Amino acid sequence: MPVTLTLNGESRVIDADPQTPLLWILRDTLGLTGTKFGCGIAQCGACTVHLDGVPTRSCQTYLGDLEGASITTIEGLETPAAAAIRAAWTELDVPQCGYCQSGQIMAATALLSETPKPTDADIDAAMDGNVCRCATYARIRSAIHLAAEKLEG
Ligand code: FES
Ligand code: FES
Repeated sequence: MPVTLTLNGESRVIDADPQTPLLWILRDTLGLTGTKFGCGIAQCGACTVHLDGVPTRSCQTYLGDLEGASITTIEGLETPAAAAIRAAWTELDVPQCGYCQSGQIMAATALLSETPKPTDADIDAAMDGNVCRCATYARIRSAIHLAAEKLEG
């Protein structure tokens, strides 16, 4: 049965097997390749999207559970927190290979939306499940602090 959901602010009807992971729908059906496939088993965070505002692993989220849901991917992430995160990421040159970074930005943006002035411990807790094989963790932490300052004005 087709599933109706909101994707990056637009209503979409998606007709596919309800057991299809959202990550496959995004990348293969809709061509939204900013969300990455890493492990496929909810262990790396590369596939993170926002599901009703909450960072969620799209590799372990199934189409059949998404009727009426609101999903935001890196392509549709347009909030003040996201702008501050992107600016800080650029200023501090955070990405190395870049593969994990859309997932990192999705997690960091959700953190700042909930906690405008996060501590190191807040950052470590929120970013814990987002693995970076290039080990950009120190720059990610600095960039989240910088983004918080930017948001504060
Ligand atoms: S691909 Fe989903 S958490 Fe790794
Ligand atoms: S920047 Fe290379 S995996 Fe994170």
